[in-house]
Formats: sequence, C-alpha cells, structure tokens
Amino acid sequence: MIRQKIVAGNWKMNGSTESITALVTDLLKAGHSNSEVVVSPSFPYLHLVSTLCAQSDLIKLAAQNVSDKESGAFTGEVSASMLEDFGVKYVLVGHSERRSLYGETDDLVALKIQSLLNKDFTPMFCIGETLEEREAGQTLAVCERQIQAVLSLLGVEAFNRIVIAYEPVWAIGTGLSATSEQAQEVHCGIRAFIAKSSDLVAQRVQILYGGSVKASTSRALFAMPDIDGALVGGASLDAKEFLEIVKAAG
Ligand code: 13P
Repeated sequence: MIRQKIVAGNWKMNGSTESITALVTDLLKAGHSNSEVVVSPSFPYLHLVSTLCAQSDLIKLAAQNVSDKESGAFTGEVSASMLEDFGVKYVLVGHSERRSLYGETDDLVALKIQSLLNKDFTPMFCIGETLEEREAGQTLAVCERQIQAVLSLLGVEAFNRIVIAYEPVWAIGTGLSATSEQAQEVHCGIRAFIAKSSDLVAQRVQILYGGSVKASTSRALFAMPDIDGALVGGASLDAKEFLEIVKAAG
C-alpha cells in the first residue's frame, strides 16, 4: 500500500511574530512537494501562520495540544472547537514533553484524541519509550500500552483518522537519533500490533518517526518501508534544513 509521506515541524515553545513570518515566508518559496508539509506553531501564532499560508495549499497547520473538554471553566486550556476557527488540520497529542512535564496519562491522551475525532481533525498521536524502558527491553510493550488506551476507548477504526508519531524519548532533543534500522523495527512492530485488530487499518496508518531528525539522517529513515515521514523538532526551525528533509521525503 502506498502511504503519502508527512513531514511535520513541531516548533514547540519557540518563535516570535518576526521569526515565524520569516520562516513561513521561506518555506512557501519552496513550491510543491509530493509529501504533506505541516508546521505546528504555539497557539498565539496559529492565526498568523494560517494567514501567511492562506493563498497556498503548500503547508498544513497543526496545533501542539488540545483540551479533552469542550468548553467551560478550564483556565489556560484550548478546545477543539476553538482550533476549528484557525484552519488547523492536525493536532499533536501525547507528546512526551506533555506526558513527562505535564503529567498527561494514556487515558487523558485517548480522551483528547476522542475530542479531536468528534470534530474533523487528524490527531498526531505521539508514542515512545524512555531510555530506561528501551534498556529493559520494554520498547514495544510501552508503545502497545500507549496505543491500547486509544484502541480500548475508540476502537481500531479510529486509526483510519489518526497519524502515529513514534518518538523515542531518548532521541528527542538529544542529537541521538534512532538509527533507521532501530526505527524501522519499532514501526514494523507498531503496525503488527494494530494488524491484530485490523490488517487493513494497519496497512493504511501513517507512522512518522521523531527524535533528532536532520536532513543528513532523513533520507535513510524515509527509505524504510514502515516509516511514513517525520515529526521534526529543532531542525524545523531552520527553513533550509527543514526543506532538505521535505525534499528527502520525495
Ligand atoms: P527534536 O527533533 O528536536 O529531537 O524533537 C523531536 C520532537 O519532539 C518532535 O515532536
């Protein structure tokens, strides 16, 4: 099955009106790509990026987080219906920084995905193991546990509308990318786990790799049969580097 590649930039808590305008302007100069190109600014800049990209179909917009609640007394939270006002297509959920720094559990992540699927968003569902878990041989078990929370709440068909991002925690922001073989092994295991519920859904679901992806490592990653793109942190803040990664995806 041919799955379209996705190259998504997670800008995390970085940028200003000036730097984001410059970055998006440079990205828009690149022209058409066969891959889906996505950028994910912090909430205050969604409107700016949406406006900058309005005249072209080259870049899709992602938000970095969403509340599982619809509305009400939840100070500091942003609901899925609010994101509908900004032309957002994708929303990151379950990023390891949200899990480790803000205490998000597997069950909360599943509820957030539910709130997104109740609307017309595509969740980018982040999963991955810590170094300790990898060294204990728990890599796949951790990924399966994280996926199972969503399967139990929403069923396997939900994965027809979800993009998975496998991001080993030890590779995020460390410069220590998983090798393409290491990543492929886990992606293949994730697909096999979903295939236990539905072979067809498993063949369709796009699984991105994230963790210190750079232009220099991206080609080997994208050559792997179960790697359908990348979720890029630091390197996505540099237009030239990010566009090299987009180019490597074909
Ligand atoms: P880095 O590419 O900076 O390691 O970040 C990866 C990431 O967390 C993307 O969501």
